[in-house]
Amino acid sequence: AEHHVRQFVIAPRPVTRLCRTHQSITVNGQFPGPTLEVRNGDSVAITVINRARYNISIHWHGLRQMRNPWADGPEYITQCPIRPGQSYTYKFTIEDQEGTLWWHAHSRWLRATVYGALIIYPRLGSPYPFVMPKRDIPILLGEWWDRNPMDVLRQAQFTGAAANVSDAYTINGQPGDLYRCSRAGTMRFPIFPGETVQLRVINAGMNQELFFSVANHQLTVVETDSAYTKPFTTNVIMLGPGQTTNVLITANQRPGRYYMAARAYNSANAPFDNTTTTAILQYVNAPTRRGRGRGRGQMAPVFPVLPGFNDTATATAFTNRLRYWKRAPVPQQIDENLFFTVGLGLINCANPNSPRCQGPNGTRFAASINNMSFVLPRRNSVMQAYYQGMPGIFTTDFPPVPPVQFDYTGNVSRALWQPIKGTKAYKLKYRANVQIVLQDTSIVTPENHPMHLHGYQFYVVGSGFGNFNPRTDPARFNLFDPPERNTIGTPPGGWVAIRFVADNPGAWFMHCHIDSHLGWGLAMVFLVENGRGRLQSVQAPPLDLPRC
Ligand code: C2O
Repeated sequence: AEHHVRQFVIAPRPVTRLCRTHQSITVNGQFPGPTLEVRNGDSVAITVINRARYNISIHWHGLRQMRNPWADGPEYITQCPIRPGQSYTYKFTIEDQEGTLWWHAHSRWLRATVYGALIIYPRLGSPYPFVMPKRDIPILLGEWWDRNPMDVLRQAQFTGAAANVSDAYTINGQPGDLYRCSRAGTMRFPIFPGETVQLRVINAGMNQELFFSVANHQLTVVETDSAYTKPFTTNVIMLGPGQTTNVLITANQRPGRYYMAARAYNSANAPFDNTTTTAILQYVNAPTRRGRGRGRGQMAPVFPVLPGFNDTATATAFTNRLRYWKRAPVPQQIDENLFFTVGLGLINCANPNSPRCQGPNGTRFAASINNMSFVLPRRNSVMQAYYQGMPGIFTTDFPPVPPVQFDYTGNVSRALWQPIKGTKAYKLKYRANVQIVLQDTSIVTPENHPMHLHGYQFYVVGSGFGNFNPRTDPARFNLFDPPERNTIGTPPGGWVAIRFVADNPGAWFMHCHIDSHLGWGLAMVFLVENGRGRLQSVQAPPLDLPRC
């Protein structure tokens, strides 16, 4: 196994998009940031040097970080943020994972520009369960704001309203041909006629589920969130923020130019940016237009058919096709049966005329799990407080079920509208078999909540629309080959059930990967101990762990 030593220098740098130049926060001057390529079994030491004027931390999204929560990254959960002028070295080993993951800032809205691909190849000589093409292309889908994303966040937090939607979607940082001043930067991917390549598609967007498609070409899905799937072909894939999907694509069409394109899947019917990001898949030696002078040159690329922004049927049909590549070791007997309502809520303002009260009908937005709206502790990280037995940072009374009987089809109880704020965690016994049913409350509007669990991979054993029925739904769970993921969309007005074994001690964040929802508190923490009330096998905190 190899040891990789890298440096990530976080610093502002001018980036020009949509006719404007910003000082964007970048890593090593790159946007998107550098791709990290490692093998299963390798170890990594990445020194993050903060030369920006914001606090920052970096999360290795989807990496299990076994017994090593100190390298996970979410600020105030597993570490205090890295202050301007300070540095911290993330040290970790890849244990039994391969595939496509990514890394991103885990500090307020900095991940809007601070993100990159994390690619884990199998151990040398270890085969793929499919014929792996020679070439591999990371496709990072993102969102771009005309304003500094931190100002957009401040606007949302100050006014209590929804954040401004982004001004463009991007592919590898580029909006593409359909946006103003963007043509020159459009990503072009050459491909040889007959060649098959693997696209590693990552949704690094802040707030938006996305459909992705390539004109005239079929996509063969082989992996999601660093877990192989039974291969199947489709015209379109859907990714929630945080999710990754690997697809194979073969250049078997008429030599030419074809758009790959992504745009919103927005079940909420909320305001959204109705635009499409594009890149060009370009056959090598494709014929050019005939003639002289104007009109000569390359043919216009073919545009794909993309589903409508509210096409929940297509999104659901896609996710329902995912299967683990072989029989999966799904936990069968459940020790911890949890039911979490996830969704937005509205808090009545004391003074509806205040500038801080711009939510609908004299309210501010909030979001919660089981009516608990998560507050970052800020005086220390949950993990440090947990490890040192320091009181007063968090409480362990997170409720395993909602405070009132939940009914989505009737009027949702008022007791689930106005969340209670707190820094609440839930304790899981080491090696417990855990099941969580996540139910969208649809209080403001039915919405897809892409829920991400740190430190774990889980099996998605079932999902459906309407209320979860504990008597009839479990009988239809797939306990044989359900897909394994680290982020799963809770269907709009529906539920999803996941299972995992609590085999990784530490403090692990679970949250909605829509950053505006995370900011409103759609989060909680799992505490996993081993030994009698102790974190026996967790590694000791590194000496350079930042202090609050
Ligand atoms: Cu990709 Cu807690 O995040």
